[in-house]
Amino acid sequence: MKKVRIALLGLGNVGRGVCMILNSNKEEIMKRSGYEVEIAKILVRDKNKPRGVKVPDEIVTTNFNEIIEDDSIKIVIEVMGGIDPAREYMLKCMDAGKHIVTANKMLLATDGDALFEKADSKGLMFKYEASVAGGIPIINGIDESLTANKIKELYGIINGTTNYILTKMESEGLGFDEALKEAQDMGYAEADPTSDIEGYDAQYKLAILSSLAFGTKIVVDNVYREGITKIKPIDMEYAKEFKMVIKLLAIVKEKDDKLELRVHPTMIPKKHPLANVYDSFNAVFVKGNAVGDLMFYGRGAGDLPTGSAVVSDVISILRSNVDLENCNPVVKNNLWDRKIGSIRDVESKFYIRATVLDEPGVLGEITAILGKHNVSLRSVIQKGEENEKGQVTIVLVTHTVTQAQIFDAFHKISELKSVNNIDNIIRIEDFKN
Ligand code: NAP
Ligand code: HSE
Repeated sequence: MKKVRIALLGLGNVGRGVCMILNSNKEEIMKRSGYEVEIAKILVRDKNKPRGVKVPDEIVTTNFNEIIEDDSIKIVIEVMGGIDPAREYMLKCMDAGKHIVTANKMLLATDGDALFEKADSKGLMFKYEASVAGGIPIINGIDESLTANKIKELYGIINGTTNYILTKMESEGLGFDEALKEAQDMGYAEADPTSDIEGYDAQYKLAILSSLAFGTKIVVDNVYREGITKIKPIDMEYAKEFKMVIKLLAIVKEKDDKLELRVHPTMIPKKHPLANVYDSFNAVFVKGNAVGDLMFYGRGAGDLPTGSAVVSDVISILRSNVDLENCNPVVKNNLWDRKIGSIRDVESKFYIRATVLDEPGVLGEITAILGKHNVSLRSVIQKGEENEKGQVTIVLVTHTVTQAQIFDAFHKISELKSVNNIDNIIRIEDFKN
């Protein structure tokens, strides 16, 4: 049996999962890859931290040079996260002829080019299955198994933390902070959970997925983003009343030769398959012109699911006939130029919750402004008693309009004296267009 020595940069949630899988599935990995995989070094910041996995003390180091200078290490797994020093370390590893496996969507979506170019120029393999949707083989699915298709639309629940929070708020009535704490304890959340709850993590992942699905280069700034921090139990109650649920959806659609790219909370019909994706599960719903509708589903975060994607990438390198000593050039994908549409032109139905004075004429003022912006209402709901300030909550649901119409109209509406606050605006996706 041939032996290959690898190194890990990081031994947190994902690194732990990788070590556990390499231990527990050693035999299967040997049979499938033709190699015995040996972890030669693991880079961490703090050698004394408990790791939740058994690894020999002598392979754990805080000195990156021990990895770069060891020519017997052929593959490096980057699971430390962040931009620097992860970028610098991966570039240095490639300069030293080491193949790379990474789970770092933030870096790929913001400065992936430098890494891909380095891998190309050095003839090295650079794999990143774990960067999107944890254990779901979506990168390979799109980049290998769906390449015969023109992909027209893709909808994803691609952040486990926010899906976990929304599930717990909806089904168990948990508060936002409590649900986030649970997601952190389970190892789903990023080191800085703002990345999850404000939608940045899903924004990075959508940039990566859309680049592959549409054969182009999408950068993170091409993707419109909103997080879930404004979602309140009352929004969930209204969604339930409309036979809908609220999910943080990542959406890319090709419309009028332009790509619409966006991440935002969305009300979707309870009967749609994506509505039934709960907890830390992720799902990606793809429409291909040949394959039709397809849904990928599985655990989107956590040590073992993510470790599964990372170790499979290692095996894929070992099985790829890449000469581990003398690297062969990596074949480059052809890219198309695609136009990116403005978020202002994106059409949707909208749910709007506002706090207004409970007085005659208030709805009239609001509907007059909506009329001026050509916004047609489907329903207006006012429930419950006024508060001590004489205010009530109203909910409006529109017919299909552009984001520009809604945002311009509600900018004006928010200036009315009778309107205390526009509390939330959520898009409704009925998958009918
Ligand atoms: P984590 O638990 O915070 O672990 C990060 C590890 O990297 C720690 O072991 C840390 O060392 C080490 N590290 C960080 N900066 C370092 C530095 N400058 N020098 C040396 N070591 C350093 O993170 P994670 O959840 O495993 O995530 C790792 C990566 O996978 C991120 O890119 C993340 O976005 C991605 N990812 C995570 C998941 C998930 O479910 N968690 C899923 C998919 C992708 P110490 O332990 O000594 O501090
Ligand atoms: N923080 C990420 C999530 C990890 O919650 O989905 C998986 O990429």
